[in-house]
Order: sequence, then structure tokens, then C-alpha cells
Amino acid sequence: VAPMTNKSSDSSFISKMKSSGRNVVVFYGSQTGTAEEFGGRLAKDALNYGMKGMVADPEECDMDDLPKLAEIENSLAIFCMATYGEGDPTDNAQEFNEWLQNGEGTPLSGVRFAVFGLGNKTYEHYNAMGKYVDKRLEELGAERVFELGLGDDDGNIEEDFVTWREKFWPAVCEFYGVQAVGDQISIRQYTLTVHDDLPSEKIYNGEITRLGSFRNQRPPFDAKNPYLAPVKVNRELHKGGDRSCMHIEFDISGSKIRYEAGDHVAVYPVNDPEIVNGIGKCLNVDLDQVFTLTNIDEEASKKHPFPCPCTYRTALSHYLDVNSSPRTHILREISEWADEKDKEFLLKLTSTTPEGKSLYNEWIIKDRRNILAVLEDLPSLKPPIDHICELLPRLQARYYSISSSPKEYQESIHITAVLVNYQTRTGRTMKGVATNWLALKKPEKGDKQTVPIYVRKSQFRLPFKTNTPIIMVGPGTGLAPFRGFLQERHFIKKEGKPVGDTVLYYGCRCKAEDYLYEEELDGYVKDGTLSHLHVAFSRDQKEKVYVQHLLMKNKEETWKILENGGHIYICGDARNMARDVHATLESILMECGNMDQEKAAEYVKKMQNKGRYSCDVWS
Ligand code: FAD
Ligand code: 2AM
Repeated sequence: VAPMTNKSSDSSFISKMKSSGRNVVVFYGSQTGTAEEFGGRLAKDALNYGMKGMVADPEECDMDDLPKLAEIENSLAIFCMATYGEGDPTDNAQEFNEWLQNGEGTPLSGVRFAVFGLGNKTYEHYNAMGKYVDKRLEELGAERVFELGLGDDDGNIEEDFVTWREKFWPAVCEFYGVQAVGDQISIRQYTLTVHDDLPSEKIYNGEITRLGSFRNQRPPFDAKNPYLAPVKVNRELHKGGDRSCMHIEFDISGSKIRYEAGDHVAVYPVNDPEIVNGIGKCLNVDLDQVFTLTNIDEEASKKHPFPCPCTYRTALSHYLDVNSSPRTHILREISEWADEKDKEFLLKLTSTTPEGKSLYNEWIIKDRRNILAVLEDLPSLKPPIDHICELLPRLQARYYSISSSPKEYQESIHITAVLVNYQTRTGRTMKGVATNWLALKKPEKGDKQTVPIYVRKSQFRLPFKTNTPIIMVGPGTGLAPFRGFLQERHFIKKEGKPVGDTVLYYGCRCKAEDYLYEEELDGYVKDGTLSHLHVAFSRDQKEKVYVQHLLMKNKEETWKILENGGHIYICGDARNMARDVHATLESILMECGNMDQEKAAEYVKKMQNKGRYSCDVWS
């Protein structure tokens, strides 16, 4: 096994565990923070059973040390592993994944483990990473303490996790012969320091890692060091109707940022000041107070939960997720700051009984209450603001499929984003964090409007050979990356190089309302960049017409392109569209290629493996 390199000197989690008397380590593979959060809760739980836990990022650990876990008495490794994209590991678990794959001969005997996987059933490779880690650790000789847990983010992942955890700890007790020593101990993990006279240059203002990095920008730009890109253009794409879709252009000139058509751009948003001020008002606190939260555990890898010192306003605006549904452990911990009645309600809501789970599902998930709505609707609940700051998860960057090509726009990155706004059952308007913030970033406002961004490389690429034919299927904002692909092929064509057939299936509700980039697409048909443009308007007539209906209508053309080595791309809604298009494709193969269901499925699998069938989908 090749050793994992480039680790810092304190990358040995084993020595850390030994020196601090820990026997439980929770590794997380996390992209959006949920797996990390679950990991933190499990590590904290360990204290209830007389064990001592810590969370660890596999990217920062020397995983070659895993066999040495057996040297620690009563030790346990828990893995909270999210699956990302097309069954892939998260960025921070990629190296660990390779290590497992190459791990033949790594003796893990004496290592005890349990795995909780985080996935989303709308995607084809549901929980692939969690399942793989669970299976592979056993193959390598480790001993499973409790069965694999699977969380579905399309359902209620909090409930899946809580239900698994509820059975997991009793299994641990039995396995190790330990007993619960306390229950639901609410222990603060961070201490509060308030500052009254810090100079402003010592105070974080939303920077992701380095203090002052927003004032003094230095490439290279990445997730830890985003570029403050000026917004050049922000215009409405819809021509009618009551929804909104934005075409936004970020200026990247002078930033040295490079991208390719098909990549994603990540945006760090800022929370709605109405929510931030609302929390301040409910808790009657001065949001401009500067403070620091410091981990009580000096050995912990995370000294602060987010960049400190900063003001409460900065923490609630830039660093904390104040708009999603608060998880049960948060509500449980803050319940002690309410009167008897509200406390009882919160304890019931967060209990693991069927009644509690159903109440949580109704009152939090279905009513779509965020932390502010909870505080508003339980007026006696007055937790200290720093306790809330300790418990809320981190605000996450949002990804957008880049809708331009560097061949035509080297100095800018375009996105196509639909505004998220909806009414909740409590009569509140829920506003999507990033899209509503982006909607305010109008360059015509005068002062420079900037957005912290970085580019995330993807596998979604045009065929290597320009003369390979392609079919692109992208209804709604699924059109985004294909606009980039079209710009690319347009450019190549102008250079006089041979370009293969380029077919686009696009779908929207009504021609007169939400037909995105209509003039551009027409232009591409006229100049021959697009060989065929098929548009499905779903609501311009009585019966629904979707992209897959048109694909079926043109089955002979589709079959011919596939048989000629063409590539097919699907982008947009993962929940229904991608699945339906996949099924339609199989039907076409069965009809035109004379295959049975099994052969058709095999054909698609083969295309996937050869990179000829690619999806860029989200839910
Ligand atoms: P949030 O504050 O994150 O709220 C969104 C959440 O609200 C949803 O997850 C859903 O749970 C909930 N919600 C939304 N509508 C309703 C409703 N009617 N009822 C109940 N709940 C609801 N988006 C684009 O517009 N264009 C793109 O090109 C694009 N590309 C993407 C590429 C990738 C790889 C990924 C992962 C996502 C992409 N997205 C794209 C989605 C984008 O990242 C954001 O999720 C989206 O813009 C919403 O962000 P927000 O912060 O405004 O909303
Ligand atoms: P609808 O909203 O009228 O049902 C972009 O969102 C377009 O995708 C809309 O025209 C939408 O139609 C359509 N759409 C909805 N569900 C779909 C599905 N399962 N497959 C393909 N297109 C779908």
C-alpha cells in the first residue's frame, strides 16, 4: 500500500487518541457538512457510555495508522460517509477511498468499526460510499460492531440518523460490556469570550479562513480562499410568469482563475438580514458584540467552530446556517432555556419515540421552521446567543453549473440560477439563501457588487474528439452547462475544425414565459452549431410534453447517434427528470436496437463506464 503523503506532523490520530485517553474516533466524509455534524454528535455521545471520542477528517489523518487502532483498549472507529454526485466519495474522502481500494493486505484485524452512510435516493448510486466502506473494512479484516446505517437526504435524514443511533449505542454497550453512565448530557463544547476593544483589523468579517483575505486578495483561489468576483451582469431570463431565473456573469479578469465548460462554480452566500436581526431581537442581544468561541478540548482539531473573533452579526450572516430546519440535538440542548410548557414540548418533539418523530416531522420539517420561527413560536425560549452559535451547522457554499465556455468568455463565469421562494404551511415565505442574496447583486446599483466564488472541477466534459456527435438533455436550468458546451462547439466550428452532430433537448413550461436563452439557441440553429433543437413546452397545451417524449419521438435519430459512438448528457432535476430520461433511453434501445430490458441496461452501463453517458443533476 502506498503511504498517504503530505500530512502535517500531527496527522497521527493514534498518538492523539493515546495522549488524550480517547478510544472512539469518528471519521467523516462530508461535502455539505451534514456527515461532519453527525460525526460530532456521535463523538459527543461517547461520553454517555464512559468512552471518549473525537472527530477526524480522513484527509488530515494518516490512515495508514488505522491498523494501530487495535492497540487501544476498547477502541472503535465510526465512519460517517456521504456519497456525492454519481456514487463518488466526497472531496475529503477521496484519498481514503483510494487507500481502501488499494488496501489488499492491510491487516485490520482487531479494528472495530461501524458505518453510517449519507445519501439521497433520487440519485442512482444510493449511498454507494457508505456501503463500500462498510463492506471493504470487513474484507480487510476489521470487525463490524453494528450494522450499516443508511440516511436518505431525500426523505428525513435526521430521523434516519437518530433511529440508527438509538440502536447503535445499546449495541456498543453490549459489545464492549459498558453501560450508559448518563443520558443526553448537555455539555458546552466551547467557552465564550467577549471582546470590547479589539481593533477592527483583528476581527473576521466573513472571510472563510485567512483573516483579512477579503481586503487583501491573493491567488490561488479555492474553497478556503474564495475570490470576490465583481458581478458584471445580472439580468432576468424569464419573459413572463411569476417565477424568476437569473443570468449572472462574474468577472474573473486578473484573478488567474481558470475553468472549463462543464465545471461548477461555488458561491458563498450571506443570510437574509431579516432572519439575523430577527434572532437578535428574539434573544434581545447586541449583534455587534465581538466574541470568540474556543474549544474546551485543547486536543481538538477545530479550535473554533467558525472564524473568531467576529460579531454575532457576522457569525449569523456568514458562518451559520440559520435557515434550514434545526436538528433534534439543537432543539434538545436549548430546551432548558424555556419555561416548563415549552421545554416539555421541545423534549417531546426531540424524543426518539414514534410520537416524537412524527411531531418533529410535522412541526419542523413539514412546517419548514428555521431557528427564527422556532424562537418566534416558542416565546419563552431564550437560549444564550453563543449557545445557538455553537450548535448551528455551518452555512454551506452553493454550486452552480457554469453556463459559459472559457473559449468565448475567458474573463468571466456565467451562471443560470432560478430564484427559490415558497410559502410554508405556517404562512411564512421561505427564501432560498443564495438565490435571494444573488438577486440583490445588481451591478447597476453603483458600488461594486462582489460574490465570493471558487471553481470546482467536474467530470462533465465534451467528448475529446470534436467530431463526436452529442445529445444534450437539459430542461429548465439543466440547460446551463449546455450553453457552455454550445459556446465551445461554436468556437471550434469558427476555427474551421470538424464538429460532430450537436443535438439539444430543452424543456420549459411555456414558450412565452420561461424559454431560457431563446434567441441564442435560435442563433445556434441558424449558424449550424446546433444540428437539431427539440423543445418541449410542458404547459402550452393540455397534455404534458416533456423532453423524454421528444426523445422517444426521435428515437431513430437518437439510436443512430448512439450507435455512431455519440455521447449523451443529462442535466437538471435528479428527482424525476433524470430517471425518466434514463428509462426512455432504455426503451429506445429496446425498440431500435432489438434488445431486452437487461441488454438495454447493460448498454447504458457500458456507455457510463466509457464516459459516453454523463449526468450533472441535483435535487
Ligand atoms: P436554499 O436556502 O438552499 O433552499 C433550497 C431548499 O429549499 C431546497 O433544498 C429544498 O429543500 C427547499 N425547497 C425549495 N423549494 C421548495 C418548495 N417549493 N417547497 C418546499 N421546500 C422547498 N441551481 C440552479 O438554479 N442552476 C444551476 O445551474 C445549478 N447547478 C447545480 C449544480 C450542482 C452540482 C448542485 C449540487 C446544485 C446546483 N443547483 C443549481 C442548485 C443550487 O446549488 C442551489 O441548491 C439552489 O440555487 C438553491 O439555493 P438557495 O440557497 O437559494 O436555497
Ligand atoms: P412541468 O413543471 O409543467 O411539469 C423544467 O422544469 C421543465 O421540466 C418544465 O417544463 C417541467 O414541466 C418539466 N418536467 C417536470 N417533470 C419532468 C419529468 N419528470 N421529466 C421531464 N421533464 C419534466
